[in-house]
Amino acid sequence: MTRDDMPLRVVWLECRYRPAVAELDKLCYANPLTLLELQTMLRRPHCTGAMVVVGDRLIGYNIFESHKDRYTILRFAVHPEFRRQAVGTRLFQYLAKQLSTRKSRIIVEVPETDLHSQLFFRALQFRAIHIERGGLGTEDVYIMQYRKTIALIVPQSAGELTPHQ
Ligand SMILES: CC(C)(COP(=O)(O)OP(=O)(O)OC[C@H]1O[C@@H](n2cnc3c(N)ncnc32)[C@H](O)[C@@H]1OP(=O)(O)O)[C@@H](O)C(=O)NCCC(=O)NCCS
Repeated sequence: MTRDDMPLRVVWLECRYRPAVAELDKLCYANPLTLLELQTMLRRPHCTGAMVVVGDRLIGYNIFESHKDRYTILRFAVHPEFRRQAVGTRLFQYLAKQLSTRKSRIIVEVPETDLHSQLFFRALQFRAIHIERGGLGTEDVYIMQYRKTIALIVPQSAGELTPHQ
């Protein structure tokens, strides 16, 4: 199945999918969350998530916190069988659509050794803005940021300037 005809849906994370998220987290992270940790995380104020499903099967998810001026991604993963088919991109676009003039940034912390994730977020126009030395014990962490671009609307008549009399 190609990336264009995969019948996937991106929707808000539903409670009944939490066990599936915990299972997928085990496949995708070296330090997976238990179901209890996941539920505790999602009970935090302003913490929510989105998921990608094909039929009833969960193939990707993210968990993020909403702050006054930004979203902070806490978890972001795609099932190994479905990688490099733009599933992660679709998940990101779902979050990016929530951005506004006031809440205009998305932040993610990526371990310095995790080149794959750095390249993924870079492909989505995230840029490293800070290095947190020893952010993960002995490992440094790159703080990467995506900023909503504000389109400049130029009136059509802008090119037709007439000199002041
Ligand atoms: C990172 C991750 C979410 C990417 O998901 P994905 O669905 O494969 O990403 P996409 O297919 O949308 O990739 C979009 C672009 O990002 C870049 N990219 C993605 N994965 C990449 C990789 N492993 N190596 C290099 N570039 C990569 C490519 O430019 C890609 O476009 P292309 O396939 O046309 O070349 C997935 O690999 C994953 O779940 N990893 C394990 C969990 C993890 O590390 N999460 C991030 C924690 S900070």
